[in-house]
Amino acid sequence: MLRYTVERVPVGSVLAASIYDGRGNLLMREGTELTAGHLELLRRRGVKTVLVDHPEFRDLVLSDPISPDLLREALRSYGEVAVWIRTKSSGTGSDFDWEPFRRMAKRLLEEVGSGAEHRCLLHATSHDQQLAVHCLNVAIVAVRLARDVVRPDQLVEVGLGALLHDVGRLVTDDGAGEIPSPLEPPTEEERQHPLRGLALIRGVGTLSAFAKVVVLQHHERQDGSGFPHGTRAPDLHPIAQVVGLADAYVSLLEARGGLPPDQAVEWVMTTAGREFDHRLVSSFVNHVDPYPLGVEVRLSSGEEGVVVRQTGVRTRPVVRVVAREGRPVEACYDVDLTSLDRQTTVIQWARPLVSV
Ligand SMILES: [Fe+2]
Ligand SMILES: [Fe+2]
Repeated sequence: MLRYTVERVPVGSVLAASIYDGRGNLLMREGTELTAGHLELLRRRGVKTVLVDHPEFRDLVLSDPISPDLLREALRSYGEVAVWIRTKSSGTGSDFDWEPFRRMAKRLLEEVGSGAEHRCLLHATSHDQQLAVHCLNVAIVAVRLARDVVRPDQLVEVGLGALLHDVGRLVTDDGAGEIPSPLEPPTEEERQHPLRGLALIRGVGTLSAFAKVVVLQHHERQDGSGFPHGTRAPDLHPIAQVVGLADAYVSLLEARGGLPPDQAVEWVMTTAGREFDHRLVSSFVNHVDPYPLGVEVRLSSGEEGVVVRQTGVRTRPVVRVVAREGRPVEACYDVDLTSLDRQTTVIQWARPLVSV
């Protein structure tokens, strides 16, 4: 299977994964042969990317890191929080049932497992899924990193904190806002969302202090360069730092004009010892692939293709070549960048994962 933007997908392609709207309702079922009418419908519903079967990429499985069930539950829950915020009369979150978020955090922990075998992230297929998918992706990365740096009994708090970290964004928009890039200076609105989030959940007895500190501190950095308070280490909670790093990485990928995954990994590496703790950044490097499965790359040899397999060397995956010097090849072939005859071939660039 391959991921295409709706603009690029050829008519007649077969959907390799069902598509859901921002509320978790089924829009189009896996196996649908896409007609021009289907594509028009998807465009009208704001769907940006689809996974389709491709004869040259039958063996490439781009499975989501969590079950469709958990994704649907998350989309539904975020929708409910957004509606509740718009209609609530009191200023506190005590009259909302936050229990589904703890349940989701527990499930996420079970489903993400050790993280060694599934390093993919979720793609928001449409704008109205963006915030929920962002929070899930941050939770997936955070839980993987956290195994090296926090106690096992705190892992569920990492997941819960990550799922809720941007709840303050829902106070000012309908959750369909863009994910801001960490490369841009934060707007005043952006600087306020941790405080708005904390105000929303501060009085909720069923939510732990860990989750609340994550909501408040996920944009704080150990050198004091973060916001809203410029809090420095050692006053930053380690769980907030884990979620903060996961959030920075995921936001680099998801923001409009997002970075390709290899550049996002590089950027995170430059923060070691300044914004983030060295040990945390080392853990990150061990858990995140700079060239995830399915990403489009160009090689120094002029060949272009798609990453179809990981090898023991993170920067040298197996690439299925589909074009050379801009022209399609007659038959696709695989290049293993760890093989001896490819020692001098390197990846020149990777295409950003499509952001919506
Ligand atoms: Fe945030
Ligand atoms: Fe975030």
